[in-house]
Amino acid sequence: VAQKYKEQYRPQFHFTPEENWMNDPNGMVYFNDEYHLFYQHHPFGTTWGPMHWGHAVSKDLIHWEHLPIALFPDEHGTIFSGSAIVDWNNTSGFFDDQPGLVAIYTSADNYPDSDRPRQRQSLAYSIDNGRTWVKYEGNPVLSDVNITDYRDPKVFWHHDTNKWVMVLATEQSVTIYTSPNLIDWEYASEFGNKAGSHDGVWECPDLFQLSIDDDKSNQKWAMLVSIGDNSEFKEGSRTQYFIGQFDGTTFVNDNDDDTILWLDYGRDNYAGVTWSDSPDERRIYIGWMSNWRYANQVPTNEWRSAMTLPRELTMTSTEEGVRLVQKPVSEINKIRKETNIHKEIIIDSNNSVFFDLNNKLMEIEIEFEQINSSEFDLLIQHSETEKTIISYDVRNSSLLVDRTNSGENSFSTSFPAVQEAPLKMKNNKVKLQLFIDTSSIELFANDGEIAMTSLIFPSEIGKGLTLVSNGGSTNVSTLKVTELESIWK
Ligand code: FRU
Repeated sequence: VAQKYKEQYRPQFHFTPEENWMNDPNGMVYFNDEYHLFYQHHPFGTTWGPMHWGHAVSKDLIHWEHLPIALFPDEHGTIFSGSAIVDWNNTSGFFDDQPGLVAIYTSADNYPDSDRPRQRQSLAYSIDNGRTWVKYEGNPVLSDVNITDYRDPKVFWHHDTNKWVMVLATEQSVTIYTSPNLIDWEYASEFGNKAGSHDGVWECPDLFQLSIDDDKSNQKWAMLVSIGDNSEFKEGSRTQYFIGQFDGTTFVNDNDDDTILWLDYGRDNYAGVTWSDSPDERRIYIGWMSNWRYANQVPTNEWRSAMTLPRELTMTSTEEGVRLVQKPVSEINKIRKETNIHKEIIIDSNNSVFFDLNNKLMEIEIEFEQINSSEFDLLIQHSETEKTIISYDVRNSSLLVDRTNSGENSFSTSFPAVQEAPLKMKNNKVKLQLFIDTSSIELFANDGEIAMTSLIFPSEIGKGLTLVSNGGSTNVSTLKVTELESIWK
């Protein structure tokens, strides 16, 4: 194993397929002490092709064990994205004395005698902790509405109405279906034709309930919707979300149709959804760390694509309204090694400060305060010539991640980019947390209020870190640099 994961750009603490192509995370479910992660997989090449569900399991969401392919194409087509649940009460009738797993996915083929794509929803079940799967003989269970983009079922149990709920991406909306048994589905409602961003086709929806600021008596629902690539927009594929209410049949958006909430302001977090049945009611999210604009071209040879770090989603109330907050799961602690702490460093126009990173995998936590500057930067110096610049523009209250000079980027003209997120100071402070792996930087700002996920392809991870302030001074009240350990050691 150790040798295998040493290839150039191979992420050291992010999930990647052992070899060949991966896109969306699928079927995430927790069952019998294991987190399952399935994923869109093309086992015969490093570009997108006939889709299978690859499979891995983890005890801690950080260290993964690769398992054989779970779902293969069949007479109904290839296996597109979908979800998995534990059928605790055997509503499906697939199980005898023990509950088991049911996967709900899109079967993708063509209409008979035509090359027009057809997408229908199918089931498979497993009585051995996801090691082997049986396709339901009555597949597909939901079909034929004559639209082409009809996919990515995410299913959950709705306690109040005692029914399964499915959210399905249907071209430019999310259609909601309900079922008593996972087999018979009934139309409930449609959401979103006018709401939010329609910059691309809607894909991979998710819908779940969370407490606002930990107050169990005050809850709302979040709907995630990924938006496909469209060459008219420079950002490529992205993920938005809505906040609202859900009664078991209808989702009502809290915001007006024009409000767009982005889950991530970086270019590389797509098609993410959350785990079913995770313990302690944690809402755990993982995304595909790429972008359809260039996913097939990124410069890796043996495998292609990684997942984001698993993140815990919570809700908080802000001046603008209720928002999602995301933080890497606490299990990240397992790979934290030594931490170096520096305090009270004043940076100004004549005084930049440099720290050695020694090409280690790193987490950096930094707090800026007494901000009297117009801009301050944190430069990750990868090699002599390659750097990623993270800056905060005080006047515009915006956080920027510039990867135009981060390393290899000739594979796509869309790749070099300055990514931007709105970020207000809090009590004249800005707090950043960064995770630097061999080919990505994940940035969380102000305790997870904003996330920015970017791929980068530097020749080395990071020689050092430079802190700069322009147009006045800034105080770095704390800088914590923690070395991270490879999950493949
Ligand atoms: C999203 C997506 C899904 C589809 C899958 C196919 O990235 O386009 O809508 O099910 O990928 O691999």
